[in-house]
Amino acid sequence: MDFIEHIRRRAKVAKRTIVLPEGTEERTLMAADIILGEEIAELILIGSPAVIEKVSAEKGLHNIGKATIIDPQCHGEKAYYADLLFELRKSKGLSYDAALELVQNPLYLGVLLIKDGRAHGEVAGAANTTGDVLRPAFQIIKTQPGISAVSGAFIMLLPDSNYGENGMMVFADCAVNPDPTAAELAEIALLSAETAHTIAGIEPRVAMLSFSTKGSAKHEKVNKVVEATNIARLRNPSLAIDGELQADAAIVEAVGRSKAPGSPIAGRANVLVFPSLETGNIAYKLVQRLAGAEAIGPVLQGLAAPINDLSRGCSVEDIVNLVAITANQANKQTQTTTSLI
Ligand code: ACO
Repeated sequence: MDFIEHIRRRAKVAKRTIVLPEGTEERTLMAADIILGEEIAELILIGSPAVIEKVSAEKGLHNIGKATIIDPQCHGEKAYYADLLFELRKSKGLSYDAALELVQNPLYLGVLLIKDGRAHGEVAGAANTTGDVLRPAFQIIKTQPGISAVSGAFIMLLPDSNYGENGMMVFADCAVNPDPTAAELAEIALLSAETAHTIAGIEPRVAMLSFSTKGSAKHEKVNKVVEATNIARLRNPSLAIDGELQADAAIVEAVGRSKAPGSPIAGRANVLVFPSLETGNIAYKLVQRLAGAEAIGPVLQGLAAPINDLSRGCSVEDIVNLVAITANQANKQTQTTTSLI
């Protein structure tokens, strides 16, 4: 069974409720129709019921009636959610009037529904920027205990099965933290290992990447990666992790043996942790385009509830798959607290 089919099947069993704040967006509605038809998740769509009905009729969608639809401009619980938002954010200077205004924003209402226990996770971003999707999540849902920075991983499915785990790898952080500290980089490693284990279903072997392997270059940026590796080892002594490694030493057996002899993972890494957002974001896009890899994500890791951000160029299938991944994450979070952190 391939990865996507596996994820969809597990989502069906989990029966989680996922909120889609961009409920009037055409691709989102087409994806919702598939999700509801195949019972991948229960859905809450935020948006004008009249627009949802019109788009559904135009596109011949038959399953949208199975979703709960909430009109952000006009619903019976506006004051209730404004109170909740005000209580959560008044210490940050939010006024009650501003809270009343914000609950009409679907991206704020979506995360408030999760905070209130009405939904288990959210997928958005087909029509909004990454920053606009993430900000309400960071402000209201916050991080898991013990985590200071949320990060974004991609599950990379490579055509060449010689790399990673039969061609499957996890890359991070490709989406959130422009310049992580050593402690944040260590968290990114631990969370990526967790994502590899719980979502990709692989035993993580984590490489902390740099432009140096085991002291071949001296630079403060190299020192940061070494420090991050040490912090991650202290936080999880049983994790298979090594650094600093160059990319070839991380993924090519012969190079790993020669540049980092004795390393527990060199040449066999299946989780690549990049030293900055620039490197991670550029690397995943190049591997996607030049090597023909499928890039699934970004899967946001470290939030107290799963919220995932789509690319604005996403396809209907991308939305269905990210909802299935979000349902899997929600299921894992209710079953266990993170085991690798
Ligand atoms: N993890 C957890 N919380 C965070 C993080 C983080 N990584 N970053 C910020 N926060 C919290 C802050 O603590 C703050 O919380 P508070 O208000 O309760 O104190 C809140 O979020 C807002 O913090 P700001 O510093 O004001 O953050 P800002 O809103 O300016 O930026 C953002 C956050 C938008 C996510 C920023 O980090 C960003 O733009 N990152 C890059 C995103 C991006 O463009 N990625 C590339 C495209 S994605 C792709 O290609 C797949």
